[in-house]
Amino acid sequence: MNLVEKDLKYIWHPCSQMKDYETLKPIVIEKGEGVYLYDIDGNKYLDAISSWWCNLFGHSNKRINKAINDQVNKIEHVIFANFSNIPAIELSERLVKITPDRLEKLFFVDNGSAAVETALKMSFHYHQQLGKIKKKRFVAITDAYHGETLGALSMSDLDIYSKVYKPLMLDTIRVNGPDCYRCSFNKDRDTCNSECFIDMQKEIEDKHEEISAIIIEPMLQGAAGMKIYSPTYLKKLRELCDKYDINLIADEIAVGFGRTGKMFACEHAGISPDIMCISKGLTAGYLPMAIVMTSNKIYDVFYGDYNENKAFLHSHTYSGNALGCSVALEVLKIFEEEPILETVNQKGKFLNELLRRELGDHSLVGEIRNIGMINAIELVKDKETKELFSSDLRIGYEIFKIALEKGVILRPLGNVIYFNPLYVISEEEMIEMVKVCKESVNIWEKSQNDDSLSYKRK
Ligand SMILES: Cc1ncc(COP(=O)(O)O)c(C=O)c1O
Repeated sequence: MNLVEKDLKYIWHPCSQMKDYETLKPIVIEKGEGVYLYDIDGNKYLDAISSWWCNLFGHSNKRINKAINDQVNKIEHVIFANFSNIPAIELSERLVKITPDRLEKLFFVDNGSAAVETALKMSFHYHQQLGKIKKKRFVAITDAYHGETLGALSMSDLDIYSKVYKPLMLDTIRVNGPDCYRCSFNKDRDTCNSECFIDMQKEIEDKHEEISAIIIEPMLQGAAGMKIYSPTYLKKLRELCDKYDINLIADEIAVGFGRTGKMFACEHAGISPDIMCISKGLTAGYLPMAIVMTSNKIYDVFYGDYNENKAFLHSHTYSGNALGCSVALEVLKIFEEEPILETVNQKGKFLNELLRRELGDHSLVGEIRNIGMINAIELVKDKETKELFSSDLRIGYEIFKIALEKGVILRPLGNVIYFNPLYVISEEEMIEMVKVCKESVNIWEKSQNDDSLSYKRK
């Protein structure tokens, strides 16, 4: 049995219909370097999506490899209750310095969904301790994505991931969020005053006594199709959360660490959340780690003589993992020593101009949007009406397969092709990426009128 056969015999891959692997076999990656991944057959792939948005400085980055090696020879992991470790302490001190004000305490977990779960429990428990026992509901906006565990999934609003589990979910208050491409107020994202906030305002004013926290992906709803919105929405949200004693949870898991051109996306709006979840770029795509940052105001409510209702008895075996912390520390040092944010903004802009030149006039391209390193193209059936293609077409998956044949890993979100590349990508590599994208869209468009055309991977 070869490796691919063994993979299919034993492994259940995430976010997949396993039957699809009958035609598109798993690609077994043997090594990586910079923006490229190499499979066991020697094929080379340009990773346009930073391996699920987490790699920052290149696969097998020498500097980060060394940090792990140095750490592994000292201590790999130690229980984090009653014990600590040096990289975790140094990392915490540095993160408090560079994150928005009022985030002064760190709770370590091991993945993004766990961070969201932790944030929800922390917020609920905080209000309970203060005797605000009615505050036990959470608010999240339409098209949100916050992870896959039951609490996090309850905050998410993308049916493909959550619909079937609805009977198990928390009673989330779902509010219409911003939708700038199809703005019902006919406003421009860059100049609007977030008129769409009216729905949120109404819900908060009606239900604030029941609301523990509002969770939001600041500036950009990633899994929804890289939907970018105005910072004024976040400013208004902060004001109302302050007014009604509601915790604002910023889910910076996908957007933190420079993705939007600022270190943290909340900075676009100049706001500080009460709780912030970070992951992905935190360890530059190396190790599973996430952190929930919060204020002393929240932390202090849990502080006192031992009492199981007062203490936050949440834990994960791998909390504060020393290897993860040593990588994160190195990531922060790289940000400190090199002009990373400048580079991100320059490269994101270069890519945006290139996309506009190459695909701006394409009959299927409805919108090309950009923030920091992230660029996205929304494909539509009709540019005027912004009508979508039928979801049966699985347009994203088909374009993914075509681009893969051409050596680029695009992994569109439905009808949205996006680029969320590694920060080390060069202009030549971006040109190659866009060329393959354009060819792939054209092949897919042609295939719609030509049944004989087959681009299935052999
Ligand atoms: C905004 C956001 N929140 C939470 C998560 C969940 O993180 P994880 O996949 O590590 O559980 C993701 C993952 O993509 C995300 O994009």
